[in-house]
Amino acid sequence: MIKTVTSKEGYKKLVKEIKAHDRRYYQESAPTISDYEYDLLVKELERVEALHPDWVESSSPTKSISTDTSGHFTTAKHRIPMLSLANTYSKEEVEAFIHRMEKLTEQKDIPFNVELKMDGVALSVIYEGGKLVQAVTRGNGAQGDDVTQNAAGIKNLPQMINSKDRMEMRGEVYLPLSEFRRLNKEREESGLEVYANPRNAASGSLKLIDAEVSKKRGLMIMLYDLVNPPASISHQSQIAPFLKKSGLPVFDKEFTHSAVSAEEILSFASIIEKKRSSLPFEIDGIVVKVDNLDVRADLGATNKSPRWAMAYKFAAEQAETVIESISVQVGRTGVLTPVANLTPVLLSGSTISRATLHNQDEIDRKDIREGDRVIIEKGGDVIPKVVSVIQTSKKRAPKWKMPTSCPHCAGPVEHKEGEVAVRCKAGVKCTGQYLARLKHFVSKGAMNIENFGVKVIERFYSLGLLETLPDIYRLEQEDLEELEGFGDRSIEVLLGNIEKSKEPELFRFIFALGIPFVGVVAAKTIAEYVKDMDTFLSVEEEELIALEGIGEKVAGAIVEYLEDSHHLEEIEDLLELGIAPKAPAKKQSGHLFSGKTFVMTGTLDGYSRSEAKEIIEGRGGKVTSSISKITDYLLLGKNPGSKYNKAIKLKVEILPEEDFKELI
Ligand code: IVH
Repeated sequence: MIKTVTSKEGYKKLVKEIKAHDRRYYQESAPTISDYEYDLLVKELERVEALHPDWVESSSPTKSISTDTSGHFTTAKHRIPMLSLANTYSKEEVEAFIHRMEKLTEQKDIPFNVELKMDGVALSVIYEGGKLVQAVTRGNGAQGDDVTQNAAGIKNLPQMINSKDRMEMRGEVYLPLSEFRRLNKEREESGLEVYANPRNAASGSLKLIDAEVSKKRGLMIMLYDLVNPPASISHQSQIAPFLKKSGLPVFDKEFTHSAVSAEEILSFASIIEKKRSSLPFEIDGIVVKVDNLDVRADLGATNKSPRWAMAYKFAAEQAETVIESISVQVGRTGVLTPVANLTPVLLSGSTISRATLHNQDEIDRKDIREGDRVIIEKGGDVIPKVVSVIQTSKKRAPKWKMPTSCPHCAGPVEHKEGEVAVRCKAGVKCTGQYLARLKHFVSKGAMNIENFGVKVIERFYSLGLLETLPDIYRLEQEDLEELEGFGDRSIEVLLGNIEKSKEPELFRFIFALGIPFVGVVAAKTIAEYVKDMDTFLSVEEEELIALEGIGEKVAGAIVEYLEDSHHLEEIEDLLELGIAPKAPAKKQSGHLFSGKTFVMTGTLDGYSRSEAKEIIEGRGGKVTSSISKITDYLLLGKNPGSKYNKAIKLKVEILPEEDFKELI
C-alpha cells in the first residue's frame, strides 16, 4: 500500500526508499517490490514535489537517472546520453501526451511510431568498420558499464555487419522465457537463489564477470534506435527495415505500428495486451514515439527523458486467492521446495491452483502463511508466484517452517551454509527423490525416452515395476501386458523408445544422472574433457576445477557423487544393461573450416544437411541459414536455390560438394 506523503520528513523518507529500490533493481538485479508498486511510489513523489517545490532535493529520483553500474566493469561515456522514458498506466495520460505533442508542434494528426516495450536491460552497441567494438549499459545516462565481452555472447547480435560506417544503436537485452525457465530450474536444483523474473535474469547475466558463463545464458537483444542515422532516414519507422538489412535484430512487423491518434494507439495496445501471455519474451507495455526525427529534435528532452516519447505500461497479470495449505516437494537432487496450494483462480486464461514459494527465505521475507489471502502473478515462470499477502485470517496460522525431516522419506534434511536450499540427505534411499530422478532421467534434455511421461513413471513406480534408474532397461513385455490401457502397440512403442535411448551422447548421460549443480552446460564441458565413461568415473576434483566454467562447487558435487557406492553400482548396472554413451565429436581447431561461416544450398549427394552441419561444426566452423557478406563458403549441392545467385553477387566463395569432401 502506498502511503500519502504529508510532511517534509515523509518526503525525505520516500526519496530514500525509492533510491534503495533503484539500487536493488539496477545494480543488484534483485528488486523487492513489483514494477507497478515502484511506479506508484514515483508517482507519489512527483505529486508531492509539484505541491511543495521548496522540498525538492536536487538528487531526487525524479530529476536524474539512477545508475546501473555495478563497479565490476570499466565505465565508458555515451556520446549521446541514454535517457529513461516517462511512463503511465492510464489511457487518459496517453491522450494527454498526444495532445501535448500536437500543441507543442502546432500540428494535428502527427504520425507516431508504436512498438513493444521489452522488459529487459537497455544497452548501447557500437560497430566500427563492420565490427562490434563496444557495448555499454545505460549507467547514469552519461556513462555506463562497458560490457563488450558479454555482449559478444548475445545470441542474435552479429559480431560483424556489412556496413563500414560507425553505427551506434540502442536496444533492450532480454532473456527469452524458455531460457529463463531453464536457468531457474537449474538454479533451483542447485540450491541457488532463483531470479524473480526474466528481466532480473537478463540484467544479472549481462553483468556477470565471466563472459563464458554469460554467453551460456542465452541472452538476446532487440534494437529499437539508431543514434546517428544517415541522411536517408527521416523517421523512426525507417530504422528497423534499415537495420534489418545489415542482419541486425529488430521488431517483427506485427510488433510495430503507425498511428496518428490516441484511439489508434490504444487499440494497438489492446491487441498487444491480448497477445502478451503467448509471446516468447516478456513485455511490460508499448512505447509511443513521435515518428519524425526532425520534430523530435525540436521537442528535445528533460534531464531524465525525451519529450517525444512515452511508455504506456500494462499492469502485471495478477489474481487474488487464498493459500489453503503449503506442501513440500522434493526434487531429484534432494532440494525441498515449498509450494502453495491455492483456492483455484483464473489468471490470464488458465486456472491456477498452485504457486511456487521457492524457499524459506522467500516465505520469511513476504511473511506468507497458510490461510492468508494473497496476490499471485505470472512472473515468467510456468508456475505463478505469490507476490504479497493482502489479508490474513483473524486467527492467523503460525509462521511457516520448513520440515526438519523429508516429507517423502522421513529422512534427515540439511541446510548448508551459503545455500538457500534445504536438502533431503537420504539420497538414493528417498522415494520422492527417486521419483524425481526417474522423471529427470527420461526427460527430453537427458535420455529423451519418448512416451515415458510423468504419469507412466508414477504408475510403474507405484506398481513396483520401477524403483531405480537401471530398472527402466529391465522392463519387459510381460511386465506391461497385464496393465490396463497398455495395448500391444503402446508396449512395443515404449520398449522401442527405451531401446533407442541406449546410445546417448556422453553429456546427456552425465546430465541424466542428476548430479547436484550439473546442468546441461556443465555436463557438456565435462563430457568434452573426459571423452568416455571410464575417464569420467575416475576424474579428479582438480582436473574438473581446471575446466572453464566449472567451479569448486560443481567439481566437489561430482566427486562426492562418484564416491557414493550406490551411485557407482547404479552406473555399472546401466552400462551392463547396454547403455553405451557416445564420445563427443572431435573439435579440430587447426582445421581450415575453423572459425568459418557456411551456408548450404541444394541437395548433397553424400551427406544429409545435418551430417554436413555436424562435420563443419566438428571442425570448428559454423553453419547459418542465410547468406551475407560475412559468409565464408557456400556449400553447393544439386539444384541450388536463390542463395547461389546471392553468393555470386556478394562474392562469397562457392564450395562444390567434391571440394568439400576433399577438404574434410
Ligand atoms: S525507446 C530515450 N523503445 O524502456 C529512451 N525503449 O523505461 C528511448 N525499452 O530505457 C527508449 N523497449 O530500456 C524504447 N521499444 C522500446 C523499448 C524501450 C524497452 C526500455 C529502455 C528504456 C526503458 C524505459
